[in-house]
Amino acid sequence: MSQIQLPKSLEGKTVLIAGAAGFVPSTVAEFYLNLGAQVIGLDNFITGSKSNIELLEKYQNFTFFKQNIYQGLPNFSEQKIDYIFSLASPASPIDFSIIPLEIMRVNSEGTLALLELAKAKNARFLEASTSEVYGDPEIHPQTEDYFGHVNPIGPRACYDESKRFAEALTTSYAKKYGVDTRIIRIFNTYGPRMRPDDGRVIPNFINQALKGEDITIYGDGSQTRSFCFVTDLVDAIHNVMFSDVSTPFNIGNPDEYTIKECAEEIIKALGSKSKLSYHPLPKDDPKRRRPDMTKLQSICDYDPQISFQEGIQRTADYFKSKL
Ligand SMILES: NC(=O)c1ccc[n+]([C@@H]2O[C@H](COP(=O)([O-])OP(=O)(O)OC[C@H]3O[C@@H](n4cnc5c(N)ncnc54)[C@H](O)[C@@H]3O)[C@@H](O)[C@H]2O)c1
Repeated sequence: MSQIQLPKSLEGKTVLIAGAAGFVPSTVAEFYLNLGAQVIGLDNFITGSKSNIELLEKYQNFTFFKQNIYQGLPNFSEQKIDYIFSLASPASPIDFSIIPLEIMRVNSEGTLALLELAKAKNARFLEASTSEVYGDPEIHPQTEDYFGHVNPIGPRACYDESKRFAEALTTSYAKKYGVDTRIIRIFNTYGPRMRPDDGRVIPNFINQALKGEDITIYGDGSQTRSFCFVTDLVDAIHNVMFSDVSTPFNIGNPDEYTIKECAEEIIKALGSKSKLSYHPLPKDDPKRRRPDMTKLQSICDYDPQISFQEGIQRTADYFKSKL
């Protein structure tokens, strides 16, 4: 039985989405536009796409500001804001070596600016953290009370450590200033609006399968991941935002696949002729990833609806529409 009262409508409420041009954030924005909220989007397009904003601009209740959030926010002095979603951050491992400082700055200075805004507006604030805060975990599946196993100077450190800092900053604003905060630790998510060249495993494999190219597997493919379809993720985000719990929640889909199984499922779902090809495993690549969802499921009826096969099909249809 759900203990959360989810609003049927958010008419009269204003939602601010940092990172609105991105894959997950634009899907969150559209969800709240459909609930009737006024939605304000912020993005500097470092990894986001203008086409996602064009889609949101079809809604009359959407306003967009092109803005790098760690270089200052637009003037919101006359603006009521009820909910702030801190979703702006590059998230793909291919970005970690190219824009590490931008990643660290948005998760630290950007999060700080949004928390200050939440404090000034008395708005509820949600920080999108990541399963990467667990690093290469020594316990499995990962529960929220696990502190993680992170290399602070490794190739993923700019992301992992800045997200850990963002969680600490969020918690400190809640404790020191009484800001009403939520934290989510998102596990691998996929779906339409991901960049086809984003470098994450699902877009890579789908693209390779669609082109009939070899599917590149790093290591022997026995490392595991859990993949959540984006609309299921948005459902979880909504439940957390409207819960009254400020400590972190894992969110994702607990079904676990080895990377090899994932490649085989994609080949099958798309009827592709691709073969698997094996390459050296990158440093610090986590061996197992699966969210323990007990905490979220103890406060709501969250149950992912989209099967991996259906999610792959929908994502592939989106990529085909972009060819
Ligand atoms: N997709 C996943 O599997 C996943 C997993 C864990 C956590 N997350 C988190 O969810 C959020 C969204 O991730 P995504 O996968 O949709 O990535 P994304 O890159 O598609 O979206 C992030 C958006 O933030 C914008 N952005 C980045 N820095 C900015 C800045 N300084 N100012 C303004 N805008 C900025 C980007 O341009 C982009 O549009 C991120 O915080 C990410 O860390 C995602």
